[in-house]
Amino acid sequence: MKKKFITTPIFYGNGSPHLGHAYTSVLSDAIARYHKVWLKQDTFFMTGTDEHGQKIFEKAKTENITPKELTDKYAQEFKVLDEKLDVKYDRFIRTTDVDHYEVCKKMWTKMLDAGDLYEKEYIGLYCVGCEGFKTIKDLNVNGECPDHLVKPIELKEKNWFFKLSKYQDFLRQKLESNELKITPEFRKNEMLEFMREGLQDVSFSRSKELMSWGIPVPNDDTQVMYVWCDALTNYITGAKVFSNTKEGQDNFQAFWQEGETLHIIGKEILRFHSLYWPSMLQSAGFELPKEILVHGFITSGGQKMSKSLGNVVSPQDIFTTYEFGVEASLLGENFPKEIFRYFFLKNINPHNDGDFTWERLKELYNADLANGIGNLLSRVVKLSEKYLKISPDFVFAQINLDVEHPEFAVAMKEYDVMNAMNYIWKLIGEADNYMQTNQPFKVIKVDEEAGKQMLENLRNQVYTIARLLNPFMPTTSDIIKQIIKNNKMPEKPLFPRYE
Ligand code: MSP
Repeated sequence: MKKKFITTPIFYGNGSPHLGHAYTSVLSDAIARYHKVWLKQDTFFMTGTDEHGQKIFEKAKTENITPKELTDKYAQEFKVLDEKLDVKYDRFIRTTDVDHYEVCKKMWTKMLDAGDLYEKEYIGLYCVGCEGFKTIKDLNVNGECPDHLVKPIELKEKNWFFKLSKYQDFLRQKLESNELKITPEFRKNEMLEFMREGLQDVSFSRSKELMSWGIPVPNDDTQVMYVWCDALTNYITGAKVFSNTKEGQDNFQAFWQEGETLHIIGKEILRFHSLYWPSMLQSAGFELPKEILVHGFITSGGQKMSKSLGNVVSPQDIFTTYEFGVEASLLGENFPKEIFRYFFLKNINPHNDGDFTWERLKELYNADLANGIGNLLSRVVKLSEKYLKISPDFVFAQINLDVEHPEFAVAMKEYDVMNAMNYIWKLIGEADNYMQTNQPFKVIKVDEEAGKQMLENLRNQVYTIARLLNPFMPTTSDIIKQIIKNNKMPEKPLFPRYE
Protein backbone atom coordinates (compact mmCIF):
# COMPACT_ATOMS: atom_id res chain seq x y z
CA MET A 1 0.00 0.00 0.00
CA LYS A 2 1.28 3.48 -0.87
CA LYS A 3 2.13 5.88 1.89
CA LYS A 4 -0.03 8.88 2.66
CA PHE A 5 1.28 12.38 3.24
CA ILE A 6 -1.31 14.81 4.59
CA THR A 7 -0.76 18.50 5.31
CA THR A 8 -2.64 21.48 6.65
CA PRO A 9 -1.61 24.90 5.40
CA ILE A 10 0.95 26.49 7.68
CA PHE A 11 -0.75 29.21 9.69
CA TYR A 12 0.50 32.80 9.79
CA GLY A 13 2.28 33.32 13.05
CA ASN A 14 1.13 36.90 13.47
CA GLY A 15 -1.86 36.36 15.72
CA SER A 16 -3.84 33.93 17.84
CA PRO A 17 -5.60 31.05 16.10
CA HIS A 18 -9.29 31.51 15.33
CA LEU A 19 -12.14 29.19 14.44
CA GLY A 20 -11.17 29.03 10.75
CA HIS A 21 -7.72 27.79 11.67
CA ALA A 22 -9.12 25.33 14.18
CA TYR A 23 -11.49 24.00 11.53
CA THR A 24 -8.70 23.36 9.01
CA SER A 25 -6.76 21.53 11.71
CA VAL A 26 -9.60 19.37 12.99
CA LEU A 27 -10.73 18.45 9.48
CA SER A 28 -7.21 17.44 8.50
CA ASP A 29 -6.68 15.54 11.72
CA ALA A 30 -9.87 13.51 11.22
CA ILE A 31 -8.82 12.61 7.68
CA ALA A 32 -5.32 11.65 8.86
CA ARG A 33 -6.73 9.53 11.68
CA TYR A 34 -9.05 7.77 9.25
CA HIS A 35 -6.09 6.79 7.07
CA LYS A 36 -4.14 5.59 10.05
CA VAL A 37 -6.88 3.81 11.98
CA TRP A 38 -9.24 2.49 9.33
CA LEU A 39 -7.11 2.11 6.22
CA LYS A 40 -4.03 1.14 8.25
CA GLN A 41 -2.03 3.25 5.83
CA ASP A 42 1.39 4.52 6.80
CA THR A 43 0.47 8.19 7.10
CA PHE A 44 2.53 11.27 7.90
CA PHE A 45 0.51 14.27 9.00
CA MET A 46 2.04 17.73 9.10
CA THR A 47 1.00 21.15 10.30
CA GLY A 48 2.86 24.25 11.40
CA THR A 49 3.35 27.99 11.16
CA ASP A 50 4.28 30.38 8.38
CA GLU A 51 6.64 32.86 9.96
CA HIS A 52 8.11 35.19 7.34
CA GLY A 53 6.79 38.03 5.23
CA GLN A 54 5.54 41.54 5.54
CA LYS A 55 2.52 40.79 7.72
CA ILE A 56 4.71 39.39 10.47
CA PHE A 57 7.43 41.97 9.92
CA GLU A 58 4.94 44.81 10.41
CA LYS A 59 3.14 43.27 13.37
CA ALA A 60 6.44 42.74 15.18
CA LYS A 61 7.33 46.37 14.59
CA THR A 62 4.08 47.56 16.14
CA GLU A 63 4.66 45.34 19.17
CA ASN A 64 8.28 46.45 19.46
CA ILE A 65 9.67 42.94 19.40
CA THR A 66 11.60 40.93 16.82
CA PRO A 67 9.66 38.92 14.24
CA LYS A 68 11.08 35.75 15.73
CA GLU A 69 9.86 36.71 19.21
CA LEU A 70 6.45 37.35 17.73
CA THR A 71 6.25 34.01 15.94
CA ASP A 72 7.65 32.12 18.96
CA LYS A 73 4.65 33.36 20.88
CA TYR A 74 2.02 32.50 18.26
CA ALA A 75 3.56 29.19 17.13
CA GLN A 76 3.19 28.15 20.76
CA GLU A 77 -0.49 29.17 20.72
CA PHE A 78 -1.10 27.04 17.64
CA LYS A 79 0.58 24.08 19.34
CA VAL A 80 -1.53 24.55 22.45
CA LEU A 81 -4.66 24.67 20.31
CA ASP A 82 -3.71 21.42 18.59
CA GLU A 83 -3.28 19.82 21.97
CA LYS A 84 -6.66 21.10 23.12
CA LEU A 85 -8.34 19.78 19.98
CA ASP A 86 -6.56 16.44 19.98
CA VAL A 87 -4.91 17.23 16.66
CA LYS A 88 -2.17 14.62 16.51
CA TYR A 89 0.44 15.69 14.01
CA ASP A 90 3.67 13.90 13.12
CA ARG A 91 5.56 17.16 12.67
CA PHE A 92 4.84 20.75 13.56
CA ILE A 93 7.00 22.67 11.12
CA ARG A 94 7.99 26.28 11.58
CA THR A 95 9.39 28.10 8.57
CA THR A 96 12.09 29.44 10.89
CA ASP A 97 13.33 25.87 11.47
CA VAL A 98 16.95 25.44 10.41
CA ASP A 99 16.31 22.53 8.03
CA HIS A 100 13.66 24.57 6.22
CA TYR A 101 16.11 27.38 5.48
CA GLU A 102 18.47 24.88 3.92
CA VAL A 103 15.74 23.28 1.82
CA CYS A 104 14.48 26.65 0.55
CA LYS A 105 17.92 27.69 -0.57
CA LYS A 106 18.44 24.42 -2.46
CA MET A 107 14.98 24.62 -3.96
CA TRP A 108 15.71 28.17 -5.14
CA THR A 109 18.95 27.05 -6.74
CA LYS A 110 17.18 24.26 -8.60
CA MET A 111 14.61 26.67 -10.00
CA LEU A 112 17.39 29.08 -10.94
CA ASP A 113 19.33 26.30 -12.66
CA ALA A 114 16.20 25.36 -14.60
CA GLY A 115 16.16 28.90 -15.98
CA ASP A 116 12.90 29.75 -14.23
CA LEU A 117 14.06 32.70 -12.11
CA TYR A 118 15.03 36.03 -13.63
CA GLU A 119 15.43 39.64 -12.45
CA LYS A 120 12.96 42.36 -13.30
CA GLU A 121 11.71 45.71 -12.05
CA TYR A 122 8.37 45.15 -10.36
CA ILE A 123 5.68 47.79 -10.22
CA GLY A 124 2.36 46.63 -8.94
CA LEU A 125 -0.14 46.11 -6.19
CA TYR A 126 0.39 43.98 -3.12
CA CYS A 127 -2.12 42.98 -0.43
CA VAL A 128 -0.25 42.45 2.82
CA GLY A 129 -3.22 40.53 4.28
CA CYS A 130 -3.00 37.95 1.48
CA GLU A 131 0.77 38.31 1.07
CA GLY A 132 -0.22 38.27 -2.59
CA PHE A 133 0.02 40.37 -5.75
CA LYS A 134 -3.18 41.83 -7.14
CA THR A 135 -4.42 43.06 -10.45
CA ILE A 136 -7.14 45.73 -10.73
CA LYS A 137 -9.54 42.92 -11.67
CA ASP A 138 -8.99 41.21 -8.32
CA LEU A 139 -10.19 44.27 -6.38
CA ASN A 140 -13.69 45.37 -5.39
CA VAL A 141 -15.36 48.57 -6.61
CA ASN A 142 -13.53 50.58 -3.92
CA GLY A 143 -10.18 49.30 -5.12
CA GLU A 144 -9.83 47.05 -2.05
CA CYS A 145 -8.89 43.41 -1.64
CA PRO A 146 -12.29 41.67 -1.28
CA ASP A 147 -11.00 39.35 1.46
CA HIS A 148 -9.39 42.00 3.64
CA LEU A 149 -11.27 45.15 2.65
CA VAL A 150 -7.99 47.04 2.54
CA LYS A 151 -6.44 48.84 -0.43
CA PRO A 152 -3.29 47.07 -1.65
CA ILE A 153 0.00 48.95 -1.42
CA GLU A 154 1.98 49.94 -4.49
CA LEU A 155 5.29 48.15 -4.78
CA LYS A 156 8.15 49.30 -6.94
CA GLU A 157 11.29 47.27 -6.54
CA LYS A 158 13.71 45.07 -8.39
CA ASN A 159 12.85 41.44 -7.72
CA TRP A 160 13.49 37.94 -8.91
CA PHE A 161 10.60 36.60 -10.94
CA PHE A 162 9.38 33.04 -11.34
CA LYS A 163 8.33 31.97 -14.85
CA LEU A 164 4.84 30.85 -13.98
CA SER A 165 3.64 31.64 -17.50
CA LYS A 166 5.86 28.87 -18.85
CA TYR A 167 3.80 26.28 -16.97
CA GLN A 168 0.37 27.30 -18.23
CA ASP A 169 -0.18 24.32 -20.57
CA PHE A 170 1.47 21.92 -18.20
CA LEU A 171 -0.84 23.00 -15.37
CA ARG A 172 -3.93 22.82 -17.52
CA GLN A 173 -3.13 19.26 -18.49
CA LYS A 174 -2.45 18.19 -14.89
CA LEU A 175 -5.71 19.69 -13.66
CA GLU A 176 -7.90 18.56 -16.54
CA SER A 177 -6.62 15.00 -16.34
CA ASN A 178 -7.02 14.92 -12.54
CA GLU A 179 -3.40 13.86 -12.22
CA LEU A 180 -3.51 16.68 -9.75
CA LYS A 181 -6.99 16.14 -8.37
CA ILE A 182 -8.84 19.02 -6.79
CA THR A 183 -11.84 18.27 -4.59
CA PRO A 184 -14.53 19.56 -4.94
CA GLU A 185 -14.48 19.66 -8.69
CA PHE A 186 -15.99 23.14 -9.04
CA ARG A 187 -12.83 24.54 -7.45
CA LYS A 188 -10.77 22.97 -10.20
CA ASN A 189 -13.02 24.64 -12.76
CA GLU A 190 -12.48 27.99 -11.05
CA MET A 191 -8.74 27.54 -11.53
CA LEU A 192 -9.10 26.52 -15.18
CA GLU A 193 -11.27 29.57 -15.71
CA PHE A 194 -8.70 31.78 -13.98
CA MET A 195 -5.97 30.44 -16.28
CA ARG A 196 -7.95 31.20 -19.39
CA GLU A 197 -6.67 34.77 -19.47
CA GLY A 198 -3.08 33.63 -19.23
CA LEU A 199 -0.78 33.31 -16.24
CA GLN A 200 1.63 36.10 -15.37
CA ASP A 201 5.10 35.50 -13.97
CA VAL A 202 5.28 36.11 -10.22
CA SER A 203 7.66 38.21 -8.20
CA PHE A 204 9.45 35.65 -6.03
CA SER A 205 11.67 37.85 -3.90
CA ARG A 206 11.55 41.07 -1.92
CA SER A 207 14.16 43.74 -1.50
CA LYS A 208 15.89 43.26 1.86
CA GLU A 209 16.10 46.99 2.23
CA LEU A 210 12.31 47.31 2.26
CA MET A 211 11.33 44.03 3.90
CA SER A 212 14.14 41.99 5.38
CA TRP A 213 12.18 39.27 7.20
CA GLY A 214 12.59 36.27 4.93
CA ILE A 215 14.93 33.53 3.83
CA PRO A 216 17.95 34.98 2.03
CA VAL A 217 18.10 34.45 -1.72
CA PRO A 218 21.27 32.39 -2.25
CA ASN A 219 22.49 34.16 -5.38
CA ASP A 220 21.60 37.74 -4.40
CA ASP A 221 22.29 39.17 -0.97
CA THR A 222 20.05 42.17 -1.53
CA GLN A 223 16.95 39.97 -1.60
CA VAL A 224 14.90 37.64 0.60
CA MET A 225 12.45 35.08 -0.77
CA TYR A 226 8.82 35.94 -1.31
CA VAL A 227 6.93 34.43 1.60
CA TRP A 228 4.82 32.06 -0.51
CA CYS A 229 7.92 30.61 -2.17
CA ASP A 230 9.27 29.82 1.26
CA ALA A 231 5.92 28.74 2.73
CA LEU A 232 4.93 26.27 0.01
CA THR A 233 8.34 24.65 0.23
CA ASN A 234 7.56 23.63 3.83
CA TYR A 235 5.79 20.56 2.51
CA ILE A 236 8.91 19.02 1.05
CA THR A 237 11.03 20.08 4.00
CA GLY A 238 8.66 17.94 6.05
CA ALA A 239 8.97 15.07 3.58
CA LYS A 240 12.78 15.24 4.05
CA VAL A 241 13.78 16.32 0.56
CA PHE A 242 17.55 16.80 0.16
CA SER A 243 18.17 14.71 3.24
CA ASN A 244 21.74 13.49 3.47
CA THR A 245 20.82 10.26 5.20
CA LYS A 246 19.62 7.14 3.41
CA GLU A 247 16.64 7.00 5.74
CA GLY A 248 15.67 10.56 4.87
CA GLN A 249 15.97 9.94 1.15
CA ASP A 250 13.88 6.78 1.37
CA ASN A 251 11.33 8.74 3.31
CA PHE A 252 11.11 11.42 0.62
CA GLN A 253 10.87 8.79 -2.09
CA ALA A 254 8.11 6.85 -0.37
CA PHE A 255 6.01 9.69 1.03
CA TRP A 256 6.44 12.40 -1.58
CA GLN A 257 7.66 11.03 -4.87
CA GLU A 258 5.64 7.81 -4.81
CA GLY A 259 3.19 8.52 -2.04
CA GLU A 260 -0.38 9.74 -1.97
CA THR A 261 0.12 13.39 -1.13
CA LEU A 262 -2.85 15.42 0.01
CA HIS A 263 -2.87 19.15 0.80
CA ILE A 264 -5.88 20.33 2.77
CA ILE A 265 -6.42 24.06 2.39
CA GLY A 266 -9.01 26.83 2.51
CA LYS A 267 -10.48 28.15 -0.72
CA GLU A 268 -8.63 31.48 -0.77
CA ILE A 269 -5.22 29.87 -1.07
CA LEU A 270 -5.98 27.48 -3.92
CA ARG A 271 -4.20 29.58 -6.56
CA PHE A 272 -0.95 29.27 -4.65
CA HIS A 273 -1.36 25.53 -4.18
CA SER A 274 -2.69 24.53 -7.58
CA LEU A 275 -0.67 26.89 -9.79
CA TYR A 276 2.48 28.21 -8.09
CA TRP A 277 3.36 25.08 -6.13
CA PRO A 278 3.06 22.45 -8.89
CA SER A 279 5.07 24.72 -11.20
CA MET A 280 7.81 25.14 -8.62
CA LEU A 281 7.98 21.38 -8.12
CA GLN A 282 8.06 20.70 -11.84
CA SER A 283 10.79 23.29 -12.26
CA ALA A 284 12.89 21.66 -9.52
CA GLY A 285 12.26 18.16 -10.90
CA PHE A 286 10.01 16.78 -8.17
CA GLU A 287 6.66 15.02 -8.22
CA LEU A 288 3.53 17.13 -7.96
CA PRO A 289 1.09 16.68 -5.10
CA LYS A 290 -1.59 14.15 -6.01
CA GLU A 291 -4.60 15.83 -4.40
CA ILE A 292 -5.81 19.08 -2.94
CA LEU A 293 -8.90 19.20 -0.76
CA VAL A 294 -10.37 22.69 -0.62
CA HIS A 295 -12.69 23.67 2.19
CA GLY A 296 -14.80 26.80 2.50
CA PHE A 297 -14.88 29.42 5.21
CA ILE A 298 -16.38 29.26 8.64
CA THR A 299 -18.52 32.33 8.68
CA SER A 300 -20.14 34.21 11.52
CA GLY A 301 -23.44 35.65 10.45
CA GLY A 302 -22.52 34.95 6.83
CA GLN A 303 -19.19 36.87 6.86
CA LYS A 304 -15.71 35.39 6.69
CA MET A 305 -14.07 35.26 10.10
CA SER A 306 -10.74 36.97 9.87
CA LYS A 307 -8.47 39.07 11.99
CA SER A 308 -8.60 41.87 9.47
CA LEU A 309 -12.39 42.02 9.57
CA GLY A 310 -12.48 41.90 13.35
CA ASN A 311 -15.34 39.37 13.65
CA VAL A 312 -13.29 36.56 15.05
CA VAL A 313 -14.81 33.93 17.38
CA SER A 314 -12.12 32.31 19.40
CA PRO A 315 -11.96 28.54 19.82
CA GLN A 316 -11.34 29.30 23.48
CA ASP A 317 -14.87 30.77 23.76
CA ILE A 318 -16.25 27.37 22.78
CA PHE A 319 -14.03 25.52 25.25
CA THR A 320 -15.12 27.91 28.01
CA THR A 321 -18.83 27.65 27.25
CA TYR A 322 -18.68 23.86 27.20
CA GLU A 323 -16.55 23.60 30.31
CA PHE A 324 -19.63 22.49 32.28
CA GLY A 325 -19.03 19.00 30.91
CA VAL A 326 -15.63 18.64 32.55
CA GLU A 327 -17.43 17.92 35.85
CA ALA A 328 -20.73 16.66 34.53
CA SER A 329 -19.66 14.26 31.78
CA LEU A 330 -17.82 10.98 31.67
CA LEU A 331 -15.53 12.59 29.15
CA GLY A 332 -14.09 14.81 31.88
CA GLU A 333 -11.54 17.28 30.57
CA ASN A 334 -11.92 15.86 27.07
CA PHE A 335 -15.51 17.08 26.93
CA PRO A 336 -15.01 20.54 25.33
CA LYS A 337 -12.71 19.23 22.59
CA GLU A 338 -15.11 16.44 21.67
CA ILE A 339 -17.97 18.93 21.39
CA PHE A 340 -15.83 21.14 19.21
CA ARG A 341 -14.82 18.28 16.93
CA TYR A 342 -18.40 17.03 16.75
CA PHE A 343 -19.81 20.38 15.70
CA PHE A 344 -17.31 21.26 13.01
CA LEU A 345 -16.98 17.80 11.54
CA LYS A 346 -20.63 16.85 11.45
CA ASN A 347 -22.30 20.15 10.72
CA ILE A 348 -20.04 21.97 8.28
CA ASN A 349 -19.94 20.77 4.70
CA PRO A 350 -16.19 20.56 4.04
CA HIS A 351 -16.69 21.56 0.42
CA ASN A 352 -18.57 24.79 1.15
CA ASP A 353 -18.82 27.64 3.60
CA GLY A 354 -20.51 26.91 6.92
CA ASP A 355 -21.90 29.15 9.60
CA PHE A 356 -21.17 28.98 13.29
CA THR A 357 -23.73 30.27 15.77
CA TRP A 358 -24.05 29.55 19.47
CA GLU A 359 -27.74 28.63 19.05
CA ARG A 360 -26.98 26.09 16.35
CA LEU A 361 -24.25 24.49 18.42
CA LYS A 362 -26.49 24.17 21.48
CA GLU A 363 -29.44 22.81 19.54
CA LEU A 364 -27.36 20.21 17.78
CA TYR A 365 -25.54 19.27 20.96
CA ASN A 366 -28.82 18.45 22.67
CA ALA A 367 -30.33 16.67 19.66
CA ASP A 368 -27.36 14.64 18.43
CA LEU A 369 -25.28 14.09 21.52
CA ALA A 370 -27.44 14.33 24.67
CA ASN A 371 -30.58 12.80 23.14
CA GLY A 372 -28.90 10.96 20.28
CA ILE A 373 -25.88 8.88 21.03
CA GLY A 374 -25.76 9.56 24.79
CA ASN A 375 -29.29 8.39 25.34
CA LEU A 376 -28.95 5.34 23.11
CA LEU A 377 -25.79 4.24 24.87
CA SER A 378 -27.29 4.55 28.30
CA ARG A 379 -30.49 2.67 27.40
CA VAL A 380 -28.67 -0.16 25.67
CA VAL A 381 -26.02 -0.63 28.34
CA LYS A 382 -28.54 -0.55 31.19
CA LEU A 383 -30.49 -3.38 29.57
CA SER A 384 -27.37 -5.26 28.62
CA GLU A 385 -26.10 -4.97 32.19
CA LYS A 386 -29.30 -6.52 33.45
CA TYR A 387 -29.84 -9.28 30.93
CA LEU A 388 -26.63 -10.05 29.07
CA LYS A 389 -23.30 -11.37 30.18
CA ILE A 390 -20.06 -10.34 28.59
CA SER A 391 -16.84 -12.19 29.02
CA PRO A 392 -13.72 -10.07 29.45
CA ASP A 393 -12.16 -11.46 26.28
CA PHE A 394 -15.26 -10.91 24.21
CA VAL A 395 -14.21 -9.99 20.68
CA PHE A 396 -16.46 -7.92 18.50
CA ALA A 397 -16.65 -8.80 14.84
CA GLN A 398 -14.15 -7.34 12.40
CA ILE A 399 -15.59 -4.73 10.11
CA ASN A 400 -14.99 -4.59 6.39
CA LEU A 401 -15.92 -0.98 5.63
CA ASP A 402 -16.29 -1.35 1.87
CA VAL A 403 -18.68 -4.26 2.26
CA GLU A 404 -20.59 -3.40 5.40
CA HIS A 405 -20.59 0.39 5.36
CA PRO A 406 -19.98 1.41 1.74
CA GLU A 407 -21.76 4.74 2.20
CA PHE A 408 -19.27 5.67 4.91
CA ALA A 409 -16.28 4.39 2.92
CA VAL A 410 -17.29 6.29 -0.20
CA ALA A 411 -17.82 9.52 1.74
CA MET A 412 -14.37 9.24 3.28
CA LYS A 413 -12.78 8.50 -0.09
CA GLU A 414 -14.10 11.90 -1.16
CA TYR A 415 -12.98 13.42 2.15
CA ASP A 416 -16.62 14.23 2.80
CA VAL A 417 -16.34 14.04 6.54
CA MET A 418 -19.79 15.56 7.07
CA ASN A 419 -21.50 12.80 5.12
CA ALA A 420 -19.46 10.14 6.88
CA MET A 421 -20.67 11.59 10.18
CA ASN A 422 -24.23 11.76 8.88
CA TYR A 423 -23.98 8.08 8.13
CA ILE A 424 -23.02 7.38 11.74
CA TRP A 425 -26.05 9.33 12.92
CA LYS A 426 -28.20 7.36 10.52
CA LEU A 427 -27.05 4.21 12.32
CA ILE A 428 -27.88 5.86 15.65
CA GLY A 429 -31.37 6.65 14.35
CA GLU A 430 -31.81 3.08 13.13
CA ALA A 431 -30.78 1.69 16.50
CA ASP A 432 -33.29 3.98 18.22
CA ASN A 433 -36.02 2.79 15.87
CA TYR A 434 -35.08 -0.82 16.40
CA MET A 435 -35.43 -0.36 20.14
CA GLN A 436 -38.75 1.44 19.73
CA THR A 437 -40.23 -1.08 17.30
CA ASN A 438 -39.00 -4.31 18.87
CA GLN A 439 -39.12 -3.32 22.54
CA PRO A 440 -36.56 -5.90 23.68
CA PHE A 441 -37.22 -5.01 27.35
CA LYS A 442 -40.77 -6.38 26.93
CA VAL A 443 -39.91 -9.30 24.65
CA ILE A 444 -37.29 -10.57 27.08
CA LYS A 445 -39.97 -11.24 29.67
CA VAL A 446 -41.95 -13.54 27.41
CA ASP A 447 -39.29 -14.94 25.08
CA GLU A 448 -35.91 -14.68 26.74
CA GLU A 449 -33.89 -15.99 23.77
CA ALA A 450 -35.44 -13.61 21.26
CA GLY A 451 -35.17 -10.63 23.63
CA LYS A 452 -31.51 -11.34 24.34
CA GLN A 453 -30.76 -11.62 20.67
CA MET A 454 -32.28 -8.19 20.09
CA LEU A 455 -30.21 -6.70 22.87
CA GLU A 456 -27.10 -8.27 21.50
CA ASN A 457 -27.84 -6.77 18.09
CA LEU A 458 -28.22 -3.37 19.66
CA ARG A 459 -25.06 -3.67 21.68
CA ASN A 460 -23.11 -4.66 18.59
CA GLN A 461 -24.58 -1.75 16.72
CA VAL A 462 -23.55 0.75 19.41
CA TYR A 463 -20.07 -0.78 19.41
CA THR A 464 -19.86 -0.35 15.64
CA ILE A 465 -21.02 3.26 15.97
CA ALA A 466 -18.25 3.88 18.50
CA ARG A 467 -15.66 2.40 16.17
CA LEU A 468 -16.79 4.46 13.22
CA LEU A 469 -16.65 7.57 15.39
CA ASN A 470 -12.99 7.05 16.16
CA PRO A 471 -11.35 9.46 13.67
CA PHE A 472 -13.80 12.23 14.51
CA MET A 473 -14.37 11.94 18.26
CA PRO A 474 -11.57 9.68 19.46
CA THR A 475 -12.19 9.94 23.20
CA THR A 476 -15.93 9.42 22.90
CA SER A 477 -15.22 6.38 20.78
CA ASP A 478 -12.81 4.90 23.35
CA ILE A 479 -15.11 5.53 26.29
CA ILE A 480 -18.14 3.96 24.63
CA LYS A 481 -16.12 0.89 23.70
CA GLN A 482 -14.89 0.62 27.27
CA ILE A 483 -18.38 0.95 28.74
CA ILE A 484 -19.65 -1.80 26.48
CA LYS A 485 -16.75 -4.06 27.38
CA ASN A 486 -17.37 -3.41 31.09
CA ASN A 487 -21.06 -4.02 30.50
CA LYS A 488 -21.90 -1.38 33.07
CA MET A 489 -23.35 2.09 32.62
CA PRO A 490 -21.57 4.55 34.93
CA GLU A 491 -23.58 7.08 36.94
CA LYS A 492 -22.47 10.08 34.94
CA PRO A 493 -23.84 10.56 31.43
CA LEU A 494 -21.61 10.99 28.41
CA PHE A 495 -23.47 14.09 27.28
CA PRO A 496 -25.56 15.83 29.95
CA ARG A 497 -28.37 17.98 28.58
CA TYR A 498 -27.44 21.61 28.10
CA GLU A 499 -30.34 23.75 29.35
N1 MSP B 1 0.18 31.06 5.63
C1 MSP B 1 -0.77 30.85 4.61
C2 MSP B 1 -0.76 29.42 4.15
C3 MSP B 1 0.55 28.91 3.63
S1 MSP B 1 0.46 27.25 3.19
C4 MSP B 1 1.87 26.94 2.43
C5 MSP B 1 -2.16 31.19 5.14
N2 MSP B 1 -2.29 31.23 6.46
S2 MSP B 1 -3.63 31.61 7.24
O1 MSP B 1 -3.29 31.56 8.63
O2 MSP B 1 -4.13 32.86 6.76
O3 MSP B 1 -4.68 30.56 6.86
C6 MSP B 1 -4.44 29.20 7.08
C7 MSP B 1 -5.67 28.39 6.80
O4 MSP B 1 -6.75 28.83 7.61
C8 MSP B 1 -6.14 28.50 5.35
O5 MSP B 1 -6.49 27.22 4.86
C9 MSP B 1 -7.36 29.35 5.45
O6 MSP B 1 -8.30 29.06 4.45
C10 MSP B 1 -7.90 28.93 6.81
N3 MSP B 1 -8.82 29.93 7.29
C11 MSP B 1 -8.56 31.21 7.64
N4 MSP B 1 -9.76 31.81 7.90
C12 MSP B 1 -10.76 30.94 7.68
C13 MSP B 1 -12.12 30.92 7.98
N5 MSP B 1 -12.77 31.94 8.44
N6 MSP B 1 -12.78 29.75 7.80
C14 MSP B 1 -12.14 28.59 7.46
N7 MSP B 1 -10.86 28.59 7.22
C15 MSP B 1 -10.19 29.81 7.01
O7 MSP B 1 -3.05 31.37 4.35
